[in-house]
Amino acid sequence: CRPRTQEQEVKRGQNRQGFQKYLAPFPSDKKLQGGGYCWDSLQKHRALDGNVRPKRHAHPVPHRGLGNPNAGSYAHEFQCEVSFYAWSFRSHAPSSTTLVTMTDRNVPVRHAVVPAAGRGTRFLPITKSVPKEMLPVVDRPSIEYIAREATDAGIDDMLFVTRTGKESIEAYFDADPGLENELEKAGKDELLALSREYLKLARMHSVRQGHPLGLGHAVLQARQHVGNAPFAVMLPDDLMHPNSTLLKHMIDVRHALGGSVVALLRVTPEQATAYASTSVTPLEIPEGVSLKDGDLMRIDRVVEKPPLEEVMSEYAVVGRYVFDPAIFDELTKIEPGRGGEYQLTDGFARLIDRDPEDGGGLYGVVVNDRRFDTGDKLGYLEANIALALEDPKLGPKLAEFLVSEAGTQLKGRLAKVLGL
Ligand code: UTP
Repeated sequence: CRPRTQEQEVKRGQNRQGFQKYLAPFPSDKKLQGGGYCWDSLQKHRALDGNVRPKRHAHPVPHRGLGNPNAGSYAHEFQCEVSFYAWSFRSHAPSSTTLVTMTDRNVPVRHAVVPAAGRGTRFLPITKSVPKEMLPVVDRPSIEYIAREATDAGIDDMLFVTRTGKESIEAYFDADPGLENELEKAGKDELLALSREYLKLARMHSVRQGHPLGLGHAVLQARQHVGNAPFAVMLPDDLMHPNSTLLKHMIDVRHALGGSVVALLRVTPEQATAYASTSVTPLEIPEGVSLKDGDLMRIDRVVEKPPLEEVMSEYAVVGRYVFDPAIFDELTKIEPGRGGEYQLTDGFARLIDRDPEDGGGLYGVVVNDRRFDTGDKLGYLEANIALALEDPKLGPKLAEFLVSEAGTQLKGRLAKVLGL
């Protein structure tokens, strides 16, 4: 904040009284401690509807280690509206010492962070100019499945972590008044409904990760937006079947046990070497959680992409997480790990030994729903075929085509083998 004029000081005094009034309903130990709260700056960007619209920043901040949440990033938020509730616990200062970690397990999980700033090299060459998240699965981009899954699980605020070249993700979820007016005037109701589907989804926001320093670093970019609330992280490469209730169950576990929750996929030892491998203890299913026995674990140890001999169990961590805000604090403490990147696994592994009173504890929910790895060419094709086969209009004809195509290909191969 710049030095204030006398007039500003008077106004500030009045504002502070108002601020105390707003904070009164919250328990005193949950209020902001110490300084670091840029009140004048927030007032300036407060909109008439009572929400805060932070100023648009677009200046590169040099990388100075993860202790600085803006390290290596462009702090750039668009369309950012923050409810007063979340705002009350937020500090504009980077240091975690100005915040009280809010670990109350009853606090609803409203935010989902979607890291999408990776290069998508497995999908080259198309990813040179098209974000892989925008590749269609049947008739809509794969990122829309993620947004629907989040909305169905009760999330009402999504933050995409992006980089240059990923602007089409933001555009996809944005309004297009010109198009909507045209379709409305022409009475094309079905098309109008399609162009307005974004209205049924959670509110979208984005923040830039200027340098792709790793998934841990990407998640840390969400700190200012999420504040001291629990939140989900959804990796867009992991496309869950639209009927999946995995995220909802994970949120229920967070409410029942506190701490953080990750998704656990059953894999072979060979497959486990490509994931984070875990050592787990099965837990009794707590009240309020509708999981089967054996589908809830306490995680005792986790290692990122271990060699075969160090794989600890059949359970590997995949791209759905529900984190206590304590993860941000842990992410500021990690060093670059595998591949020189700041690994998210190194951050949440630290939650295992963290005091539960301070947001520690790590649990796992076993994935029983169908999942596709759309960051990989084969997984992407499988998702398209499986979901198109379920589509009442496309399914029957596609099935016919697949049977006939398989027959033709098989005939060709047989002929080759038999030397015909
Ligand atoms: P991956 O490393 O698996 O995906 O990151 P990638 O980099 O996009 O693709 P490949 O491996 O080169 O083909 C997992 C997720 O984390 C995001 C990616 O966008 C992806 O959704 N990510 C990764 C970031 O947002 N920032 C990073 O620095 C790294």
